[in-house]
Amino acid sequence: MSLESRAKRVLSPVSGHYTWLEVDRAEGSWLTAKDGRRVLDLTSGIAVLSAGHSHPRVVKAVQEQAAKLMHISTGVASYESNIELAEELVTVTPDGLDTVFFGNSGAEAVEAAIKLARQATRRGSLITFRGGFHGRTTGAATLTSSKNTYRSGYGALLPDVFVAPYPYAVTCPIPPAHDADACAEHALAILETMLDHEIPADSVAGILIEPVLGEGGYVAPPASFIRSLRDIATRIGALLIFDEVQSGMGRTGAWFAAQRFGVTPDVLLAAKALGGGLPLGAIVSSRELQRKWMTGTHGSTFGGNPVSCAAGLATLRVIRDEGLVQRAEQVGQWTVEELAPLRAHPHVREIRRFGAMVALELDTKAAAKAAVAGALERDVLVITAGSHEQVVRFIPALNIAEADLRHGVRALVDAVKGAEVATPA
Ligand SMILES: Cc1ncc(COP(=O)(O)O)c(C=O)c1O
Repeated sequence: MSLESRAKRVLSPVSGHYTWLEVDRAEGSWLTAKDGRRVLDLTSGIAVLSAGHSHPRVVKAVQEQAAKLMHISTGVASYESNIELAEELVTVTPDGLDTVFFGNSGAEAVEAAIKLARQATRRGSLITFRGGFHGRTTGAATLTSSKNTYRSGYGALLPDVFVAPYPYAVTCPIPPAHDADACAEHALAILETMLDHEIPADSVAGILIEPVLGEGGYVAPPASFIRSLRDIATRIGALLIFDEVQSGMGRTGAWFAAQRFGVTPDVLLAAKALGGGLPLGAIVSSRELQRKWMTGTHGSTFGGNPVSCAAGLATLRVIRDEGLVQRAEQVGQWTVEELAPLRAHPHVREIRRFGAMVALELDTKAAAKAAVAGALERDVLVITAGSHEQVVRFIPALNIAEADLRHGVRALVDAVKGAEVATPA
């Protein structure tokens, strides 16, 4: 019986599935299916495996740590891999962000940020941005607006959360079409209006944003927008919080998008690639700020567990030693070069890139779905993003071979060209 049939008998149907590809093992950028078929992975397990599947240095670190100390809990005793990863992580975060709290996932990092912001500022409101994805726990889901699916049927979530527009040039309601700067100015003007009318400035604990939208469709705002948010947060005494769960750890051509924008947030969130394939999340800020987070008011049994930290440490070192942060820029360039034949395609709305984060925005979900299915028929795995799942996003390992990447993107291009999808009226 297929894994899909078995899953449908024993696993909850609540989880969505991009594919039911039956994976047996993986190495580098290649998956091997149960039937021996080899498939090129351009998803990295949703932006997790920046150093590729089962990098030998990561596997060795995990095996050695598992054999030595698998679990004890940071609250019960201290251990090397936990402290060492924090020490090394703060060498790559923006200057001044030097104190780390580890959890197990991106959503937990977001929850922690909500609690830190509220407790440290003694304020309750949060401002977030339309199109952002921050996770599926109740607090994180409240801040999430990349698709309405994530809130469906859950009733009232957290109070005092306000959603401001994200400068998404393709969908911006004001002319000129696709003008990122005009769109960003418009979005800022609306945020200022919200502060004038609905959100007393002195009630705002935090302004939380993905500096590059991930699940929302791989959209980067102009640097001026991010700088203006820094100014607004400082002016109103709120914390500026960057959710870099997807954009962090080198994917944008800098360790964090914050550094590419030249803007230091008060709080930085990391997860996904941070654990190199094992569950790990982090919330990083100045020591001064985390001192205001009262001891004992937050914690975790598994957060920063020995094996995840060992995997994270090995991954961080591979990213550094193999120059993968710099390589991200090249990876992104190769991807858009290969996508060029689609520029004038009738179903293509936009091809955009920020570092290695490349999006091919199509006109409909059907067109994106057909492209993903066609790529898989050609043994290339890609996934979608966007409010209507209309975006194909490319998330290869940052050490993918150039020839593999070019081959994979070409397969997707062929899939788009070969797909028969109705053009919307
Ligand atoms: C930007 C961002 N924040 C938070 C999350 C939630 O992370 P997790 O799925 O590890 O809870 C995600 C996951 O896709 C994400 O992309």
